[in-house]
Amino acid sequence: MALHRAARFTDVPENRGLEVHINEMKIVLLKVGVQLRAFQGECPHAGAPLAEGAVCHGRLICPWHKAAFRIEDGALCEPPALDSLRRYGVEMRGDEVWVDDQPLLDGHPPPADDPRTFVIVGAGAAGTACAAALREKGFGGRIQLIDREPGAGYDRTVLSKFVIAGEMPPEEIPPLRDEEFYKAQRIERIQGEVASLDAANKTLRLTDGQSFTYDAAVLATGGIPEPLKLPGADLPQVFLLRSREQAKRIIEAAKPGQRVMIIGDSFIALESASALRQYGLDVTVLARHAVPFAAQFGTTVGKAIRARHEANGVVFHTQGEAQRIDGTDKVEAVQLDNGQRLPADLVLVGIGVNPATEPFADLPKEKDNSLKVDGGMRVSDGLWAVGDIATFPLNGQPQRIEHWRLAQQQARIAAANMLGGNEHYLDVPFFWTWHFGKNYDYLGHAEQWDDVEFKGDPYHPPFIGLFGKDGVVVAAVACDEERAMAMLAERMKQPLPVDEAWRLVRDFG
Ligand SMILES: Cc1cc2nc3c(=O)[nH]c(=O)nc-3n(C[C@H](O)[C@H](O)[C@H](O)COP(=O)(O)OP(=O)(O)OC[C@H]3O[C@@H](n4cnc5c(N)ncnc54)[C@H](O)[C@@H]3O)c2cc1C
Ligand code: FES
Repeated sequence: MALHRAARFTDVPENRGLEVHINEMKIVLLKVGVQLRAFQGECPHAGAPLAEGAVCHGRLICPWHKAAFRIEDGALCEPPALDSLRRYGVEMRGDEVWVDDQPLLDGHPPPADDPRTFVIVGAGAAGTACAAALREKGFGGRIQLIDREPGAGYDRTVLSKFVIAGEMPPEEIPPLRDEEFYKAQRIERIQGEVASLDAANKTLRLTDGQSFTYDAAVLATGGIPEPLKLPGADLPQVFLLRSREQAKRIIEAAKPGQRVMIIGDSFIALESASALRQYGLDVTVLARHAVPFAAQFGTTVGKAIRARHEANGVVFHTQGEAQRIDGTDKVEAVQLDNGQRLPADLVLVGIGVNPATEPFADLPKEKDNSLKVDGGMRVSDGLWAVGDIATFPLNGQPQRIEHWRLAQQQARIAAANMLGGNEHYLDVPFFWTWHFGKNYDYLGHAEQWDDVEFKGDPYHPPFIGLFGKDGVVVAAVACDEERAMAMLAERMKQPLPVDEAWRLVRDFG
């Protein structure tokens, strides 16, 4: 344990951090009033340099996926990080800032002094975040985390970005938590498929006949990709993409030079188009829309993303619908309803996702088969639902949104409420998507806007676009404008006039 001279107080900016290095270690220094704090310099989620984030409303917001930490003590406020920041001691000597090279001690898991059992079904983004949050918030009882996938609880978002691009072997997909965490936190991981739920008797049954009774349960079973219901869709080279196993099958089958037909123009479809093209395949997208993502990003950014794909050799086919996959024991072509026949060696289907709620036959469902929850993510007494299966009230409107960070935020809200809290979702939905080496960030959930303005050129990032309605920002889309988006993630929680937002973008861009 030793102190190191790290910076001068006056070097540390007001609304962002300063990165310093101590023995190769990256540390971020933050001002908290007239005091300073020192934390680990890289985000515990995926390693973003936290000094490139923004400080706002007493929080440090990560530049990459907008995790938020309290600047006072580094406590986790918003995922996708699941840990608080490691904190280091600071000593001021005049204007000089000296930082300890050893972190202050972490808290311990709560004592096992609670007789209750909480069961979580699904160990994906939401389920894993919920288990971690229960312990973080002091729950000492039993936590059983059930998932049908072996080794569940990994970063699903890399499947369509890096795994099927051949850049990340399936066995190197980052786990959300390591084995040591589950052991230390006494989280029991059970591999099994839930077949039914008897909510009145608080009992879950697995397909192998085992049953589990609970005091409270969280359903976090995510989505199942919509399958292609066409002749030939059962051929072995027709793929869906949701799980590590499916990504593995795709990358094992794909060979550079082959022709892949991507059916659909969803985010997963176009991320897969980008990844497989980068892996060296000839990629055709059979798209329903001439401009992809126009409903979310508007036509200008949608066209720019399509142009980016085309500049990299992806071919868009927007006439006709798939009618049949031709081939006897392997895919040969996709036959369209307009008579065209497009040759293909592989087909990847990305036409949407359905909530995985089949086992919950007795619960009332929405039209899309999702489970309706109240603002606190509660389905009924002792039962919560979070993530891709949940329809929740967002600004008074029922919404089901398939975003990683939102699923984990809902999970943290459910965890707090299972412990007697009364938390509601009050944040701005956020997601990111990756195309040919560029990350696009989106904040908001706007279905309508009456104004859109850009700084920079969507065809040549960096750029940021603000969508306004009645003079207030309802959404923002950007590429390579991470600090400004980190700031907007915090400021858009309250009605933010468009003019004020542009001032922030100028100050933080
Ligand atoms: C390839 C891909 C890329 C993505 N990229 C992004 C991105 O870049 N940014 C973003 O914001 N979002 C992205 N998403 C969306 C994001 O992954 C989801 O919104 C998020 O995973 C939802 O979390 P969840 O916990 O509800 O579901 P999941 O993470 O899918 O977890 C559900 C878990 O439940 C288990 N399960 C299901 N049924 C049962 C059962 N009956 N019994 C036991 N276990 C069961 C499943 O095995 C799974 O592990 C991506 C999704 C995919 C598929
Ligand atoms: S790296 Fe910080 S939230 Fe992902």
